[in-house]
Amino acid sequence: PLTTTGDLVTRARAARTAVLAFNIITLEHVEAVITGAENAGVPVVLQVSENAVRFRHGRLLPLARAAATAAERATVPVALHLDHIRTDALLQEAANAGFSSVMYDASHLPYDDNLASTRAAADRAHAQGLWIEAELGEIGGKDGRPARDAHAPGARTDPTEARAFVVGARVDALAVAVGSVHAMTTRTATLDHGLLRRLRDSVGVPLVLHGSSGLPDDELRAAVAGGITKVNIGTALNQAMTGAIRDHLAAHPDAVDARSYLAAGREAMAYTVERISSRLSPA
Ligand code: G3H
Ligand code: ZN
Repeated sequence: PLTTTGDLVTRARAARTAVLAFNIITLEHVEAVITGAENAGVPVVLQVSENAVRFRHGRLLPLARAAATAAERATVPVALHLDHIRTDALLQEAANAGFSSVMYDASHLPYDDNLASTRAAADRAHAQGLWIEAELGEIGGKDGRPARDAHAPGARTDPTEARAFVVGARVDALAVAVGSVHAMTTRTATLDHGLLRRLRDSVGVPLVLHGSSGLPDDELRAAVAGGITKVNIGTALNQAMTGAIRDHLAAHPDAVDARSYLAAGREAMAYTVERISSRLSPA
């Protein structure tokens, strides 16, 4: 059934685990994430980034309606989340399109500007009953740009600043820069677990890890044990989909029906979701 991100995050926190949030671009992503979560028996967040909306010719509703319909029929709880948004128009559209939460991303701005614009976004989000996540520090690696010193201490989230930011901006969750970077295609990230624990102890709200495709299994488990409550994954799905389609077309050079290779891509994504979900369950 369709549920809210706030509820899934609250439950995950109480159970000392994390909820997985996968970025969706196509209907095949929607179907694959739900199938994978159902096979693993875990709840899941389907998230649509502002970049994905741009890819869909700037229209949120077609993919959102499809995702909401699929979520209602799922056998596990599924929530819809808007990811990395910077425009007010999208924030205003969120609730009506079936989203229960947004991530407002002003992390590229200097601290004071990030705080002021996030606070304004949080007020608008809460007025619509939306749960809101923001980012402090710079995770980096989005939009094809190299991660700007993402592994350097300056780009990472400062625990004292983070506490003041969350209180001042009134957000419900915080995305933190602790060593992961967006769009990694190798699972070689190493996190600063000491910093993560200090953030958990100083920030009152649940913490979110972005760029989680780059984490090896043990780092993912350690991140959740260290205080991460929402784990965002995008690139791993696209790697699975594109790899499976590439292999399918190489093996079937005469293929014409789009369903043949889309099915291969969808199956590979569902397997990826199931595999990552099983990493979070106690062995
Ligand atoms: O917000 C989305 C996530 O941070 C995805 O990151 O594509 O590197 O897994 P990723
Ligand atoms: Zn992200």
